[in-house]
Amino acid sequence: MRRRSFLKGAGVLTVAVVGGGVWRAWDQGVFSTGEGPAYEPWKDWRNAKDSPLALVSAAILAASPHNTQPWLFKVSDSSIELYIDTSRNVGALDPYLREEHIGMGCALENLMLAAPANGYAATAQLVPGQLGPIPPEPKPQLLARVDLAPGKREADELYNAIPLRHTNRARYDSHKPLPPDFLDALSHLPDGNANVKLFLFTGEADRKNIAKVSSAANKEIYSDPNVKAGSERWIRTQWSEVQRHRDGLTIDAFGLPPIATVIAKMMTERMLGAVASHSQKDDYSDLMLSAPLIGFIAVRDRYDQQQCLLAGRTWQLAHLFATAKGIAARPCNESVEMVDHERALGQPASRAALLNEITGDPSWQPTFVFYMGYPTLTAHASPRRPVQWMEL
Ligand SMILES: Cc1cc2nc3c(=O)[nH]c(=O)nc-3n(C[C@H](O)[C@H](O)[C@H](O)COP(=O)(O)O)c2cc1C
Repeated sequence: MRRRSFLKGAGVLTVAVVGGGVWRAWDQGVFSTGEGPAYEPWKDWRNAKDSPLALVSAAILAASPHNTQPWLFKVSDSSIELYIDTSRNVGALDPYLREEHIGMGCALENLMLAAPANGYAATAQLVPGQLGPIPPEPKPQLLARVDLAPGKREADELYNAIPLRHTNRARYDSHKPLPPDFLDALSHLPDGNANVKLFLFTGEADRKNIAKVSSAANKEIYSDPNVKAGSERWIRTQWSEVQRHRDGLTIDAFGLPPIATVIAKMMTERMLGAVASHSQKDDYSDLMLSAPLIGFIAVRDRYDQQQCLLAGRTWQLAHLFATAKGIAARPCNESVEMVDHERALGQPASRAALLNEITGDPSWQPTFVFYMGYPTLTAHASPRRPVQWMEL
C-alpha cells in the first residue's frame, strides 16, 4: 500500500517534472527553431517583388555586429537612402561604430545585388566622413544614397544565396581544404578597388599565429566590464525576447550540436552564463583552427566612413559567394576590436602593430577578420526586424 502510494506520488512528480520540462521546452522555442515573427523576413523577402521595398527586404537579411541591425531606410520610387541608427550599438566593444558601419556596408551590398534581380539599375553614392566616438544623442545619419532606374532584369547565384547565408559558429571540417579556384576567386572579389584588399591565410603557421592573437584579444577585451555590458545588451536567451526584439544573438546561432542547443535553451540564464564563460576559455583558437582559411579584409584607413562601407560590402559578397559554394563562414573580430579598444583608452597601438606584422604591409589596415571552411553542422537563421520597423 505504502509502495503503491509512493509510486503514485513518484508518478505525479515525474509527470510534473516532465510536464514542466516540456512546458519550458515549448516556452523556450525548443520545437520552433526558425519559426515565428522573428524569422518571417527570411521567408517573405521576395514578396515585394519589383518594387524598391524588395531591395530593402534583401538588405535587412545582411550581417551586422551582434545582429544589431543598425539600419534605417528612406524609400521613394526612384531612390533609397540608407541611414545608420547610432543608438543600436554594442557600446565599448565598438567605440567608434566602425563595425556598425561595416554592417551598413553589408546591407548595402544585399540591396545592390537585389536591384538587377528586381529590374533596377542602381547607382550608390557614399557620404564621405571620418568616424568619431558614439554620439551621446543618437539621431539617424545618412551614409549612402542609391538611385534607381529601370534596368535589365537578372538574378544571379549571389542574390539567390541571400536567404541561405548564416554565420556558422560550429566547428568546421579540418580535413577538407578549400579548392584553389575558390580561394583565387575570393581574393579577386574587391575587383580592383584601390581601397580594399583581402589577405588570405591557409598555411598552418600563419593560421596558428592569427588564432593565438584572436584568442588573446577575446580574453582581454571581454575582461573589460564595459565591453561585457555593451555586448550583453544584445544576448537573447529567452525565446519570448527573441520574438519581441527580433534582433541580437540567440542560442540557435551559437553553433551548438542539436542536443546541446536543446539543453542550452532549457537552462536558466545564470547556468548558461557560467557554461559560456567556462567554455570560452580554451576553445576559441581550436575552433578557428578547424577552418582551413583565415582571412582579413583590409582598407587604407579603418576609420574612414566610406571605406567601412566598402569593407562591409566585401564581407557580405564574400560570405554570399562562400554560401553559394556550400562553404561556411564566421567573422572573428576580437583582434581588430582590440585596436579600437586601445585607441579609445589612449593605450599604445600594440594590436595594430601585431596585425601589420601578419600582413607585412602597413599600408593596409585590417578591419575585419573571418574564417571559412566546410561545415560539420548547418547554421540557423538569426532573427530579423521587419522592413516596416526601419522605414524613415
Ligand atoms: C562588422 C561585423 C562584425 C562581426 N563580428 C563577429 C565576431 O567577431 N564573431 C562572430 O561570431 N560573429 C560576428 N559577426 C556576425 C554577426 O554576429 C552576425 O552577422 C549577426 O548575428 C547576424 O547573423 P547572420 O550573419 O547569421 O545573419 C560580425 C558581423 C559584422 C557585420
